[in-house]
Amino acid sequence: MDNADSFINAKTTIYGILGHPLSHTLSPIMQNSWFQNQNINSVYLTFDIIPNKLEKAIEGFKTLKIQGLNVTLPHKRAIMRFLDEVDPLAKKIGAVNTLKFEDKELKAINTDALGAKKALEEVGFSLSEKNLLILGAGGASRALICAFSEELNKIIIANRTLLNGIELVKDLRNVIKPSIDAIPLKFKPLEQELPNIDILINTTPVGMYPNIKKSPISSDLLYEDLFVFDIVYNPLETQLIKDAKKKGCRTLGGLDMLINQGAIAFEWWTGIFPNINVMKEKLKRHLEM
Ligand SMILES: NC(=O)c1ccc[n+]([C@@H]2O[C@H](COP(=O)([O-])OP(=O)(O)OC[C@H]3O[C@@H](n4cnc5c(N)ncnc54)[C@H](OP(=O)(O)O)[C@@H]3O)[C@@H](O)[C@H]2O)c1
Repeated sequence: MDNADSFINAKTTIYGILGHPLSHTLSPIMQNSWFQNQNINSVYLTFDIIPNKLEKAIEGFKTLKIQGLNVTLPHKRAIMRFLDEVDPLAKKIGAVNTLKFEDKELKAINTDALGAKKALEEVGFSLSEKNLLILGAGGASRALICAFSEELNKIIIANRTLLNGIELVKDLRNVIKPSIDAIPLKFKPLEQELPNIDILINTTPVGMYPNIKKSPISSDLLYEDLFVFDIVYNPLETQLIKDAKKKGCRTLGGLDMLINQGAIAFEWWTGIFPNINVMKEKLKRHLEM
């Protein structure tokens, strides 16, 4: 594509993100940069769709020949009844986050958990035979447990509402290999479990902007041998990550997961895995502004 063609024209194909609300999404920055860098004549837009307009929106996307979509809250589960093909991991998770319109069919995968897995691989952390304590029992927790379960030895879910943690355990116990249990997100039960844990993952929104001084657990519970992964990416370094670094723990923030889930979606659409290091610097600058 030469310069004259690098503007939107009759051949430009359309991708986007579907969710509600969408005011804070970083996906358009990522995907549009990658399309430009790869000289692909496509644009990535936001589609803020309220839940009761979802079906109509999908008809519209098909009519307009939209090529692919990321899907975020609140549509990740609800959209599944409109799909023709869902990959096995997304089926197990019970939620999708990336769609592709191909051969008149609507196909879907879940790249959230794959992004988290890739981010851990990049920092050299192996999940093999490890014991995981995961804070939160929502969509992200379920996705990560499903994607990591083949490799793990044991999983403990610590959740504010114990009943929700127990429900998730009941749901997953027969479909995953490792032992799985739920505890309340409180000091004493955490203190009891943490000495046998290799990796602690936070999937609650505690510590997210603007409540950046909060941490989901007391720093007294952290110890040097623990690997601490917080999937919150705004701020770039959460209070939990700060506390963990002070204790000498190896850590990982949520930005790497976010970029990798986007990169895996881009690769599924275009066949090209984009440059994630340049993107990391770009989004860091954006989030620090
Ligand atoms: N880095 C990434 O790429 C990435 C990707 C996906 C999500 N995320 C982040 O992950 C977080 C969770 O997303 P989700 O989709 O799993 O949300 P979700 O389905 O709403 O689940 C939220 C979980 O956090 C718990 N929680 C909420 N507020 C809490 C509080 N004040 N104290 C303790 N626990 C609390 C909830 O517990 P109850 O059961 O008690 O309500 C629930 O278990 C969000 O901050 C999101 O931005 C990051």
